Amino acid sequence: MPALTTNQRLITHSNPKSHIAEAYRTLRTNIQFSSVDHEIKCILITSAQPEEGKSTTAANLAIAYAQENKKVLLIDADLRKPTLHKTFNVSNRTGLTHILVSRQEGDQALIETEIPNLTLLTSGPIPPNPAELLGSNRMETFLEEVRSWYDIVIVDSPPLLAVTDSQIIAAKTDGVVLVINHGKVKRDRAQKALSQLNYVNARVLGVVLNNKAISKKESSYYYYYGEKA
Ligand SMILES: Nc1ncnc2c1ncn2[C@@H]1O[C@H](COP(=O)(O)OP(=O)(O)OP(=O)(O)O)[C@@H](O)[C@H]1O
Ligand SMILES: [Mg+2]
Repeated sequence: MPALTTNQRLITHSNPKSHIAEAYRTLRTNIQFSSVDHEIKCILITSAQPEEGKSTTAANLAIAYAQENKKVLLIDADLRKPTLHKTFNVSNRTGLTHILVSRQEGDQALIETEIPNLTLLTSGPIPPNPAELLGSNRMETFLEEVRSWYDIVIVDSPPLLAVTDSQIIAAKTDGVVLVINHGKVKRDRAQKALSQLNYVNARVLGVVLNNKAISKKESSYYYYYGEKA
Protein backbone atom coordinates (compact mmCIF):
# COMPACT_ATOMS: atom_id res chain seq x y z
CA MET A 1 0.00 0.00 0.00
CA PRO A 2 1.32 3.47 -0.77
CA ALA A 3 2.10 5.65 2.25
CA LEU A 4 -0.16 8.61 2.87
CA THR A 5 1.17 11.79 1.32
CA THR A 6 1.98 14.73 3.60
CA ASN A 7 -1.41 16.23 2.85
CA GLN A 8 -3.22 12.94 3.44
CA ARG A 9 -1.51 12.55 6.79
CA LEU A 10 -3.85 15.25 8.07
CA ILE A 11 -6.83 13.59 6.43
CA THR A 12 -9.17 14.43 9.32
CA HIS A 13 -8.62 18.08 8.32
CA SER A 14 -8.28 17.76 4.54
CA ASN A 15 -11.08 15.26 4.05
CA PRO A 16 -13.29 15.28 7.16
CA LYS A 17 -16.00 13.23 5.45
CA SER A 18 -13.70 10.28 4.67
CA HIS A 19 -14.01 6.91 6.41
CA ILE A 20 -10.63 7.46 8.01
CA ALA A 21 -11.58 10.84 9.48
CA GLU A 22 -14.73 9.20 10.81
CA ALA A 23 -12.60 6.49 12.45
CA TYR A 24 -10.53 9.14 14.25
CA ARG A 25 -13.71 10.77 15.52
CA THR A 26 -14.85 7.36 16.75
CA LEU A 27 -11.54 6.98 18.56
CA ARG A 28 -12.11 10.36 20.20
CA THR A 29 -15.61 9.36 21.28
CA ASN A 30 -14.46 6.00 22.62
CA ILE A 31 -11.74 7.67 24.67
CA GLN A 32 -14.39 9.92 26.18
CA PHE A 33 -16.58 6.93 27.02
CA SER A 34 -13.70 4.87 28.37
CA SER A 35 -13.23 7.27 31.23
CA VAL A 36 -16.35 8.13 33.09
CA ASP A 37 -14.72 8.49 36.48
CA HIS A 38 -11.33 9.92 35.52
CA GLU A 39 -10.72 13.11 33.64
CA ILE A 40 -8.72 12.33 30.51
CA LYS A 41 -6.84 15.44 29.53
CA CYS A 42 -3.35 14.33 28.62
CA ILE A 43 -3.11 11.36 26.23
CA LEU A 44 0.05 9.55 25.10
CA ILE A 45 0.14 7.89 21.69
CA THR A 46 2.64 5.08 21.38
CA SER A 47 3.31 1.70 19.74
CA ALA A 48 5.49 -1.35 20.29
CA GLN A 49 7.70 -0.85 17.27
CA PRO A 50 8.73 1.86 14.80
CA GLU A 51 6.49 3.04 11.96
CA GLU A 52 3.21 1.68 13.21
CA GLY A 53 1.42 4.99 12.70
CA LYS A 54 1.85 6.82 16.05
CA SER A 55 2.51 10.27 14.64
CA THR A 56 -0.29 9.97 12.08
CA THR A 57 -2.70 8.90 14.82
CA ALA A 58 -1.54 11.66 17.19
CA ALA A 59 -2.04 14.38 14.56
CA ASN A 60 -5.44 13.16 13.39
CA LEU A 61 -6.78 12.54 16.88
CA ALA A 62 -5.67 16.06 17.84
CA ILE A 63 -7.55 17.42 14.81
CA ALA A 64 -10.64 15.39 15.73
CA TYR A 65 -10.66 17.04 19.17
CA ALA A 66 -10.03 20.50 17.69
CA GLN A 67 -13.01 20.01 15.36
CA GLU A 68 -15.10 19.44 18.45
CA ASN A 69 -14.12 22.96 19.58
CA LYS A 70 -11.72 21.70 22.20
CA LYS A 71 -8.56 23.74 22.76
CA VAL A 72 -5.88 21.21 21.81
CA LEU A 73 -2.12 21.04 22.26
CA LEU A 74 -0.21 18.46 20.21
CA ILE A 75 3.29 17.77 21.58
CA ASP A 76 6.03 16.01 19.63
CA ALA A 77 7.80 14.16 22.44
CA ASP A 78 9.54 11.82 20.02
CA LEU A 79 12.93 13.38 20.70
CA ARG A 80 14.63 10.68 18.60
CA LYS A 81 12.78 10.80 15.30
CA PRO A 82 10.44 13.79 15.41
CA THR A 83 8.12 14.26 12.42
CA LEU A 84 5.22 16.53 13.42
CA HIS A 85 7.01 19.72 12.28
CA LYS A 86 7.25 18.19 8.81
CA THR A 87 3.65 17.04 8.82
CA PHE A 88 2.47 20.55 9.71
CA ASN A 89 5.19 22.17 7.62
CA VAL A 90 6.56 24.42 10.37
CA SER A 91 10.01 25.20 11.74
CA ASN A 92 11.53 22.98 14.43
CA ARG A 93 14.08 25.54 15.57
CA THR A 94 12.48 25.86 18.97
CA GLY A 95 10.37 23.26 20.69
CA LEU A 96 10.00 20.93 23.64
CA THR A 97 13.75 20.47 24.17
CA HIS A 98 14.19 24.23 24.68
CA ILE A 99 11.51 24.23 27.31
CA LEU A 100 13.14 21.29 29.08
CA VAL A 101 16.75 22.40 28.79
CA SER A 102 16.72 26.16 29.03
CA ARG A 103 13.59 26.52 31.10
CA GLN A 104 12.31 28.75 28.37
CA GLU A 105 8.71 29.79 28.86
CA GLY A 106 6.47 27.32 27.07
CA ASP A 107 4.36 29.88 25.27
CA GLN A 108 7.29 31.06 23.13
CA ALA A 109 7.63 27.69 21.43
CA LEU A 110 3.93 27.03 20.90
CA ILE A 111 2.83 27.31 17.27
CA GLU A 112 -0.73 28.11 16.27
CA THR A 113 -1.48 25.82 13.32
CA GLU A 114 -3.76 26.72 10.44
CA ILE A 115 -6.30 24.37 11.99
CA PRO A 116 -8.55 26.29 14.39
CA ASN A 117 -8.09 25.33 18.08
CA LEU A 118 -4.93 23.30 17.38
CA THR A 119 -1.59 24.39 18.83
CA LEU A 120 1.61 22.47 18.07
CA LEU A 121 4.75 22.10 20.15
CA THR A 122 7.45 20.59 17.96
CA SER A 123 10.31 18.55 19.43
CA GLY A 124 13.01 21.19 19.01
CA PRO A 125 16.58 20.07 18.26
CA ILE A 126 17.31 16.41 19.03
CA PRO A 127 19.10 16.17 22.39
CA PRO A 128 21.73 13.56 23.40
CA ASN A 129 19.69 12.48 26.46
CA PRO A 130 15.97 12.24 25.56
CA ALA A 131 14.96 9.85 28.36
CA GLU A 132 16.58 12.04 30.99
CA LEU A 133 14.85 15.16 29.70
CA LEU A 134 11.46 13.47 29.48
CA GLY A 135 11.82 12.10 33.00
CA SER A 136 12.81 15.46 34.45
CA ASN A 137 10.84 17.49 36.96
CA ARG A 138 10.68 20.24 34.36
CA MET A 139 8.72 17.91 32.03
CA GLU A 140 6.32 17.15 34.84
CA THR A 141 5.71 20.80 35.72
CA PHE A 142 5.42 21.72 32.04
CA LEU A 143 2.71 19.09 31.50
CA GLU A 144 0.91 20.43 34.56
CA GLU A 145 1.09 23.97 33.17
CA VAL A 146 -0.31 23.03 29.77
CA ARG A 147 -3.08 21.01 31.37
CA SER A 148 -4.43 24.24 32.76
CA TRP A 149 -4.10 26.07 29.43
CA TYR A 150 -5.69 23.44 27.16
CA ASP A 151 -8.71 21.13 27.14
CA ILE A 152 -6.75 18.23 25.64
CA VAL A 153 -3.02 17.51 25.34
CA ILE A 154 -1.95 14.79 22.87
CA VAL A 155 1.63 13.53 23.12
CA ASP A 156 3.46 11.72 20.30
CA SER A 157 6.35 9.45 21.34
CA PRO A 158 8.94 6.91 20.17
CA PRO A 159 8.28 3.15 20.09
CA LEU A 160 7.90 1.45 23.47
CA LEU A 161 10.08 -1.57 22.90
CA ALA A 162 13.01 0.41 21.51
CA VAL A 163 13.58 2.99 24.25
CA THR A 164 12.18 3.87 27.69
CA ASP A 165 10.91 7.34 26.70
CA SER A 166 7.25 6.39 26.18
CA GLN A 167 7.09 4.46 29.43
CA ILE A 168 8.46 7.52 31.22
CA ILE A 169 5.87 9.84 29.65
CA ALA A 170 3.06 7.29 30.12
CA ALA A 171 3.45 7.60 33.87
CA LYS A 172 2.84 11.36 33.60
CA THR A 173 -0.27 11.22 31.41
CA ASP A 174 -3.90 10.29 32.07
CA GLY A 175 -4.05 7.53 29.50
CA VAL A 176 -2.38 5.83 26.58
CA VAL A 177 -3.52 4.85 23.11
CA LEU A 178 -1.50 1.96 21.69
CA VAL A 179 -1.21 1.90 17.90
CA ILE A 180 -0.69 -1.54 16.43
CA ASN A 181 0.15 -2.14 12.81
CA HIS A 182 -1.83 -5.31 12.50
CA GLY A 183 0.03 -6.75 9.54
CA LYS A 184 3.46 -5.95 10.86
CA VAL A 185 3.61 -6.52 14.57
CA LYS A 186 3.57 -9.95 16.15
CA ARG A 187 1.11 -10.57 18.96
CA ASP A 188 3.81 -11.15 21.56
CA ARG A 189 5.41 -7.76 20.77
CA ALA A 190 2.09 -6.00 21.27
CA GLN A 191 1.57 -7.91 24.51
CA LYS A 192 5.03 -6.96 25.71
CA ALA A 193 4.23 -3.32 24.96
CA LEU A 194 1.01 -3.59 26.97
CA SER A 195 2.82 -5.16 29.92
CA GLN A 196 5.41 -2.36 29.87
CA LEU A 197 2.56 0.13 30.11
CA ASN A 198 0.97 -1.82 32.94
CA TYR A 199 4.30 -1.87 34.72
CA VAL A 200 4.21 1.92 35.09
CA ASN A 201 0.50 1.83 35.95
CA ALA A 202 -0.45 3.52 32.72
CA ARG A 203 -4.12 3.53 31.86
CA VAL A 204 -4.55 1.98 28.42
CA LEU A 205 -7.55 3.75 26.92
CA GLY A 206 -7.63 1.70 23.76
CA VAL A 207 -5.83 0.17 20.87
CA VAL A 208 -5.81 1.46 17.31
CA LEU A 209 -5.40 -1.32 14.79
CA ASN A 210 -3.67 0.26 11.87
CA ASN A 211 -4.30 -2.32 9.23
CA LYS A 212 -3.21 -1.10 5.88
CA ALA A 213 -4.19 -4.36 4.16
CA ILE A 214 -7.93 -4.39 4.90
CA SER A 215 -9.30 -1.49 2.92
CA LYS A 216 -9.56 -1.55 -0.83
CA LYS A 217 -11.12 1.87 -1.29
CA GLU A 218 -8.82 3.82 0.99
CA SER A 219 -5.11 3.37 1.32
CA SER A 220 -5.58 2.65 4.98
CA TYR A 221 -8.05 1.67 7.60
CA TYR A 222 -8.26 2.34 11.27
CA TYR A 223 -10.25 0.22 13.62
CA TYR A 224 -10.64 0.85 17.28
CA TYR A 225 -11.73 -1.46 19.99
CA GLY A 226 -11.97 -0.28 23.55
CA GLU A 227 -9.78 -2.09 25.97
CA LYS A 228 -9.10 -1.30 29.55
CA ALA A 229 -5.88 -2.15 31.25
N1 LIG B 1 -3.10 4.17 7.95
C1 LIG B 1 -2.08 4.39 7.17
N2 LIG B 1 -2.15 4.11 5.84
C2 LIG B 1 -1.11 4.32 5.02
N3 LIG B 1 0.05 4.80 5.42
C3 LIG B 1 0.16 5.10 6.73
C4 LIG B 1 -0.89 4.91 7.67
N4 LIG B 1 -0.48 5.30 8.89
C5 LIG B 1 0.78 5.71 8.72
N5 LIG B 1 1.15 5.58 7.43
C6 LIG B 1 2.46 5.89 6.87
O1 LIG B 1 3.39 5.02 7.49
C7 LIG B 1 4.57 5.75 7.80
C8 LIG B 1 4.79 5.71 9.31
O2 LIG B 1 3.72 6.42 9.93
P1 LIG B 1 3.97 7.32 11.20
O3 LIG B 1 5.08 8.27 10.97
O4 LIG B 1 2.65 7.86 11.64
O5 LIG B 1 4.43 6.15 12.18
P2 LIG B 1 5.19 6.27 13.55
O6 LIG B 1 4.73 5.10 14.37
O7 LIG B 1 5.04 7.62 14.12
O8 LIG B 1 6.71 6.02 13.10
P3 LIG B 1 8.02 6.28 13.98
O9 LIG B 1 8.17 5.07 14.87
O10 LIG B 1 9.10 6.36 12.93
O11 LIG B 1 7.83 7.54 14.74
C9 LIG B 1 4.38 7.15 7.26
O12 LIG B 1 4.97 7.24 5.99
C10 LIG B 1 2.89 7.30 7.18
O13 LIG B 1 2.51 8.22 6.17
MG1 LIG C 1 6.45 9.02 14.73
